[in-house]
Amino acid sequence: MNRVKTGVIGLDSLLEGGFPEGRSILVSGGCGTGKTIFCMQYIYNGAKEYGEPGVYVTLDERPALIREDVIRFGWDLKKLEEQNMLQLVDGTIAKLGMPSEEEFSLPVTGFDVDKLLLEVMRVIKRIGAKRAVIDSIPALGFNFESSNEVRKAVLKLSYMLMRSGVTALMTSEVNEGNAKYGKYGVEEYVVDGVIVLHYMGVGTQSNRTLHIRKMRATHHSEDLHPIEITNKGMTVHKIEEEYAEA
Ligand SMILES: Nc1ncnc2c1ncn2[C@@H]1O[C@H](COP(=O)(O)OP(=O)(O)OP(=O)(O)O)[C@@H](O)[C@H]1O
Ligand SMILES: [Mg+2]
Repeated sequence: MNRVKTGVIGLDSLLEGGFPEGRSILVSGGCGTGKTIFCMQYIYNGAKEYGEPGVYVTLDERPALIREDVIRFGWDLKKLEEQNMLQLVDGTIAKLGMPSEEEFSLPVTGFDVDKLLLEVMRVIKRIGAKRAVIDSIPALGFNFESSNEVRKAVLKLSYMLMRSGVTALMTSEVNEGNAKYGKYGVEEYVVDGVIVLHYMGVGTQSNRTLHIRKMRATHHSEDLHPIEITNKGMTVHKIEEEYAEA
């Protein structure tokens, strides 16, 4: 099986070289755990370092703000967008029934998963994308009535993305201490892999970790790995490194 480099420093070696090609992976965690940074790093490095075009669908955070935020990491999205190596699809404002200023956005009337897919497929085809991100599933979910609907929607998303040949990440939120890995408790069963990000504050110390909860067809690390967000983006550490430093 071919592997897709994650672009996240330290992660590939925990996954037999990367994500299984053509599969869908859920990136789950509470607010501020780094889901958006993780996914953007996958798309950015995919385009910049590995020459693989990527599509980033943002449903929570406006594209203009994402572009601004990641300048901190030295990631110039605009430049890659101009080269058609990366495209942001704005799904934030369509949900409010307002037109977007972005080149790629969702139709303003009757927002649903099918319309989202249609637009995403169009952009994937246009730039020949190999990577895609849907950030986030709960942001699609305000009109989902039952977990069965969510399961069907996530299944449809991952199936269509697989058919288009991309390796896809989707984000979902969880509350710390919650036994589920996705907001609805069904997303994690449908996807091929689950990466969980944690953030724990203890006194004046804060502690970020990453855990590979599942990755089909992969012999992967089962440890809770310390992660760091610096001005270079996200780095995943091996457990031994931490012990060595202590
Ligand atoms: N330049 C930076 N250096 C260090 N840490 C940073 C930097 N930029 C952001 N962070 C950390 O990353 C967090 C934001 O990460 P991100 O937006 O990826 O989280 P998220 O899981 O997507 O959150 P949400 O659920 O709100 O969408 C910030 O709250 C901050 O703690
Ligand atoms: Mg986010």
